[in-house]
Amino acid sequence: THCTVCWCGGILTLTLTHSASPPSLSPLQCTWLSPRRWLNLQEYQSKKLMQESGVAVQRFYVADTASEALEAAKRLNAKEIVLKAQILAGGRGKGVFDSGLKGGVHLTKDPAVVGELANKMLGFNLTTKQTPKEGVKVKTVMVAEALDITRETYFAILMDRSCNGPVMVGSPQGGMDIEEVAASSPELIFKEVIDIFEGVRDDQALRMAANLGFNGPLQRQAADQIKRLYDLFLKVDATQVEVNPLGETPEGQVVCFDAKINFDDNAEFRQKAVFAMDDMTESDPTETEAAKWDLKYIGLDGNIACFVNGAGLAMATCDIIDLHGGKPANFLDLGGGVKERQVYEAFKLLTADPKVEAILVNIFGGIVNCAIIANGITKACRELELKVPLVVRLEGTNVHEAKRILTESGLPITAAENLDDAAKKAVAAIKK
Ligand SMILES: *[C@@H]1O[C@H](CO)[C@@H](O)[C@H](O)[C@H]1NC(C)=O
Repeated sequence: THCTVCWCGGILTLTLTHSASPPSLSPLQCTWLSPRRWLNLQEYQSKKLMQESGVAVQRFYVADTASEALEAAKRLNAKEIVLKAQILAGGRGKGVFDSGLKGGVHLTKDPAVVGELANKMLGFNLTTKQTPKEGVKVKTVMVAEALDITRETYFAILMDRSCNGPVMVGSPQGGMDIEEVAASSPELIFKEVIDIFEGVRDDQALRMAANLGFNGPLQRQAADQIKRLYDLFLKVDATQVEVNPLGETPEGQVVCFDAKINFDDNAEFRQKAVFAMDDMTESDPTETEAAKWDLKYIGLDGNIACFVNGAGLAMATCDIIDLHGGKPANFLDLGGGVKERQVYEAFKLLTADPKVEAILVNIFGGIVNCAIIANGITKACRELELKVPLVVRLEGTNVHEAKRILTESGLPITAAENLDDAAKKAVAAIKK
């Protein structure tokens, strides 16, 4: 797993993806700087979207109970069936259930076995390398037709900054980590820049299909799949559709065996159906609550809560706290257009964490009016009966008014002159 750096709405965000090249960031930054919670779909949800765009996927059903799974297995009437626990975390195949069952993915020829296995999956927790220790509760299983793969290729459509638009990337070397292919045999990575007005041209799709190694009648079939994947990419406002593997079956079918779709969260307003599929149960409840108020919350290990605006300032704040011998407990990024209510909710979230022994507010009022922050802070302090020391450093727009509000509030707020001073005072407040 690597970090990807991107600028999003003017806010520096880092997301964990498995497909992008790793920038040079320290592991610390990678773990704490993932303020965006990207919409993440379950496998069956992605495959449904693909099906709806005419993309070839294995036949499958979804089941919430063991008897449904058994019925689905019978209905599939397949030579071989694959049963897959639906959780967002990776490493399912090697995971373990607290029912004792090993493996979140099973192959069988017997529908009755599907029923038995589903019985040991549904309602139980599955622990994999990527889940918390207690695992994630499995509520849904996917019952699919197992298909043989004679050849695996890699295909993706993604937004590429250097091309100012979508790009197709493919390799005949699929089924494995694409970074490794790119590093060891770059000549096996093929690109086609897509003109957003024209879409994927026929010659482009056919050339990509040929580069992926699809010959004869399979070339047309693969080109057709490529076009449909681009239709899907547009239809759901994806930023990336990655198919690995895009495979070939012994029967001569081109099939998308596994796919990862990333969505543009700026398009949420017109992709309501897609975003409604978002399953929050696997994410940190505090992050989910923060997202409700348009705040970005990241939990860390220390004891100083950081209330900041902008990820750059968040990084600097955490670094300076560290420099002065403290450890951030979390950080909460307020973002741009701030309202008093948001400040209040932010404080509620920050102080709900029992680890927090001091709060450091470090806000630079550029777009943000410092007086709004100050009013939010004083209101929150009073209503939440704040019990931990609070150090505030405000700078920028309307800062004099803000300082007046804080001073006249009579609240025990420690004012700081600058970032360094603020961090020192926050660390000192804990030592007391
Ligand atoms: C099962 O996982 C859920 C999270 O999905 C967790 O809240 C719960 O504590 C876990 N149960 C057990 C028995 O570990």
